[in-house]
Amino acid sequence: MTIQGWKISNPDGNKRVIVTKELPGQRWLEILTRADCRVEICTSTRVLGIDEIKKGMGDRCDGAIGQLTEDWGEELFSALKSAGGCAYSNYAVGFNNVDVEAASRHGIPVGNTPGVLTETTAQMAVALTFAAARRVGEAERYIRAGQYKGWIPSLFMGDLLWQKTVGVVGAGRIGETYARMMAEGHKMNIIYYDIHQNKTLEDYIARYGQFLESVGLAPVTCRRAETIAELLRQADCVSVHTVLDDSTHHLINAESLAQMKENAILINTSRGPVVDEAALVAHCRTHPDFRAGLDVFEEEPDLKPGLTDLENVVIVPHIASATKWTREGMATLAAANVAAILRGYPAWQNPDIRPFLGEDPPRAAPSIVNAEAVGVSLV
Ligand code: DGY
Repeated sequence: MTIQGWKISNPDGNKRVIVTKELPGQRWLEILTRADCRVEICTSTRVLGIDEIKKGMGDRCDGAIGQLTEDWGEELFSALKSAGGCAYSNYAVGFNNVDVEAASRHGIPVGNTPGVLTETTAQMAVALTFAAARRVGEAERYIRAGQYKGWIPSLFMGDLLWQKTVGVVGAGRIGETYARMMAEGHKMNIIYYDIHQNKTLEDYIARYGQFLESVGLAPVTCRRAETIAELLRQADCVSVHTVLDDSTHHLINAESLAQMKENAILINTSRGPVVDEAALVAHCRTHPDFRAGLDVFEEEPDLKPGLTDLENVVIVPHIASATKWTREGMATLAAANVAAILRGYPAWQNPDIRPFLGEDPPRAAPSIVNAEAVGVSLV
């Protein structure tokens, strides 16, 4: 049976996999087709509600690929289990929309898509950093409105981010990559805050600093802050790269904004609720020299009142990972997660997922976040 708004690929496949949005590229479909899956894809661009996803699952569904905008909790995992399902992958590296414990209770492995978003997302954080520092949004609105009447020495003067200090909150894969881009490209010193020490980043920047000195240039430095307050006070620009969980919800709030320099820049490409958006609106209103660049929002797609009126804020609609290579890579990894579990393969342990993008991918699921909890063996 075909449900309206869903299209079918490989109708004769023996396993049934639902995908709640059309995904870019073809390779992901080939992976599921090779695993003998009939793939049913929702063609709507609307965010699907729980009931619509359950309807899509029907009474027989072996696996599902869902989106970060959907609430994958007890209700959906129990429906998936009842439909005979045993595999789920989020089409995202972040999985704060997934109740992993609920999935584990139902014995369902949960996949995500790490490794292909790193540089792409870090580049968007860099783009937002400079869009904010150099007032690109304001200047573009001005010229499009026909207000540009000739060169003026003081027109849209911004801040020079060169040999200043960048604060990185969360120095995992994406935060580390952003830090390196800012140190190498713009000779920024790094201060980072993370519950784990990032020795790789510290050593890399130490060596890069030595290299700069060896060619007669000022070195860059990298230091782990003991408290987030220390970072906020010292950084000229703060970029947030944490996961969203109870410990990071509103990590950046009115109090922390008040600790930042008056003319600092705040960038968020992680998850909206890490920043108290209403507090940010209030802060930007009263601190015209403060700037922010946001890719993510607290209640997407809604924005907090007043945000769009602020000239000192640059906003884009959650597109940090939106390059063709990355979004196709995410689709490949999500499909490979589901196909591998349906075939009974183990879960890949190596954080390097590049082999899955090559011609002869490993017989494994690239990234299963609850492998041990659901008894999927590791390789
Ligand atoms: C993710 O994968 O978590 C990103 O936010 C998608 O862009």
